Formats: sequence, C-alpha cells, structure tokens
Amino acid sequence: MKDIYILGIESSCDETSFSIVKNGIEEISTVISTQIDIHKKYGGVVPEIASRAHIKNITFVLEECLEQAKIKMEDITAIAITYGPGLIGSLLVGVECAKTLSFLYNKPLIPVHHIAGHIYANNLVKRLEFPLIALVISGGHTELIYMKSDYSFEKLGATLDDAVGECYDKVAKVLGIEYPGGPKIDKLASLGEKKYDLPIPLNDDTYDFSFSGLKSAVINLVHKEKLRGKEINKEDLAASFQDVVIKSLTKKTMHAVKEYNVKNLILAGGVAANSGIRKEFQKLCEENNINYTFPSIKYATDNAAMIASAGYYAYLKGRRADLTLNAVSSDELK
Ligand code: KG4
Ligand code: ZN
Repeated sequence: MKDIYILGIESSCDETSFSIVKNGIEEISTVISTQIDIHKKYGGVVPEIASRAHIKNITFVLEECLEQAKIKMEDITAIAITYGPGLIGSLLVGVECAKTLSFLYNKPLIPVHHIAGHIYANNLVKRLEFPLIALVISGGHTELIYMKSDYSFEKLGATLDDAVGECYDKVAKVLGIEYPGGPKIDKLASLGEKKYDLPIPLNDDTYDFSFSGLKSAVINLVHKEKLRGKEINKEDLAASFQDVVIKSLTKKTMHAVKEYNVKNLILAGGVAANSGIRKEFQKLCEENNINYTFPSIKYATDNAAMIASAGYYAYLKGRRADLTLNAVSSDELK
C-alpha cells in the first residue's frame, strides 16, 4: 500500500501546532507554538488574545513543520483538522487555514474531534489494541470512553461539572501558583503528605465524575486557615488533593475495565502527564494484568501529532469534510 502522509493542524486552545505523521504511527515532524507566557499574567487563557496569537503564528508554524519534514504540500495525502471542541475563535483560525490548504492543493479534508486526537496520542507510543477503555483527563474534559475498534467511541461517563484539569488549575490559583497550575501541583504533591481531609467526590458506582465540590472544599479550607491565621502547607495540601483525584479516577476507571472485560487501558489529555496519576494506574494495571499505555509527556498536552494520527484512521474510515466545514465549541466525540 502507498504510504499515507497526514498533515495535522491543532489550534483549539492556546497551542498552534502542525505535524506530519506517516501511516498513523510514524511521526515525521511536529512544531508546537505555545502561548502560555502570554496568558500567564491573566491567570488563564484569554480567548480573544488566543485567536490573535494563532493568526500571527499559523503560517510560520506550518512553514517550519514542512521544512523540518523536508516534505512539500504536494506530497501530503490529506489534511486533518481539529474542528472542535475548544475556543471558537482559536478553532476558526485552524479550520480556515485547513480549508485554504485543502482548496489550494486539492487535498481531502478530515475533521477530527479534539478528544479523538488526545486518545490517538497513545498510538504514537504504541499501536492501540482493542477493545480498550480510555480515561480522558484534560483542562476541558473528564470522560471514560469504550473503544471496540479504531475510531469507534462509546462514552460511558463524564464529569457532571468541572473537568479535572480545570480543578487542578483553580486549586493552583488559590495557592498563588501561576497558570497552568497542574504541573506545579503535581510537583508539590510529590513533596508533601496527605495531611488534609478532603471528600472523595461522587464516590458511587456510576462512570460519572464531579470535581467542583472538591475544588470548593480546597478553596474553603485555604480561606478558613487564613482566617485562623494559620499557614497552609502547600505541599501537604497538594498531596491531599491529588490523592483524592487519583482515588476518584482509578475507582471509576478500573470499574469500567472490569465491567467491560477489557485488557487494555489508556490515559489521554493534559492531566495524563501527571506523575502521581500515572504511577497509581501503572500499579493497578500491573496487579490486574491489564496492558496500559500513557501518552508521552510531550504529547499529553495539545499538539498536532495526535490530530494527524487520529486523522489517519478517520481517513481510512472515509471521514471527509468539504469547504463548508465550520468550527464548533462543543460536540460529542465521534
Ligand atoms: O489537554 P490539554 O493540553 O488541554 C485541553 O484540551 O484542555 O490539558 C491542559 C490541562 C491543564 O489544565 C493543565 O494544568 C493540565 O492539563 N496538566 C496537568 C499536568 N500537566 C498538564 N495536570 C496535572 N498534572 C500535570 N502534570
Ligand atoms: Zn486538549
């Protein structure tokens, strides 16, 4: 079979990224331009500023990606684009770019759901094996997905309120830690002990999650200690918070693994970079003889390599979009 080269484009939040992936598994080149430094001073991503930064960067990132790959647009088989969900202005910049390239070079356009991309970040580590359970944990999503084959997604449960990454970032903020706080809380947690008592949210037999109660519990605890004139031990609070997050994620996920009788588990999304979460899942999978794959730390957070990998399987399934493709801020995984 002729090799298939997919150009992936990702611009759903604060990363502008292009990547070329061969046959769904072989990464040829990836360029990511992050806006973290721009948004840091506002304590989170400012949508209007994000879209402007994408417009400014997008052609440079594309050029660099093609240059690194030593591949011309003419040699690309198809273009995979994140059409949603995400920040609408940011998504639109990528979608318009993808449509323009598709029209100019007469290449098929493949619409890719952002979460399908996060799931396929694992395919760049090791070819996915089915059936599998995917735990998607990012700044905007917390979902349990069952996949019986490539590009087939069944949602088992999701957060009823905040996403786990959002919760990490809010907890970091109340502790005076800069955006994005997730990685810093992870580091602090590894230095602390579980000394603060926090409730395990939605501790039931469903596949749904809830993180807003936990977030409020941490915020209230910090304020109460302040009123009492007591100093919060950030390391211990981070360790206590992360322990509760891990308990909630592992309980629901391992329950799904058993109920659906699967032997393969993957983690996906920015929070899948968390060392405490990875360590606990690794231990549980080894104890239960479950094969596990985690995304590389570099590609746990937003990037276009994962979009190009997912795009390859969507391409094989015949998924196509035309020039009427629009960006959507929310959409079910499909
Ligand atoms: O997947 P992602 O790049 O963007 C979304 O699609 O949302 O995820 C970003 C999220 C942020 O909330 C960030 O704080 C979190 O992932 N994150 C982490 C870690 N690294 C990134 N959270 C906890 N521990 C980490 N090591
Ligand atoms: Zn993401």
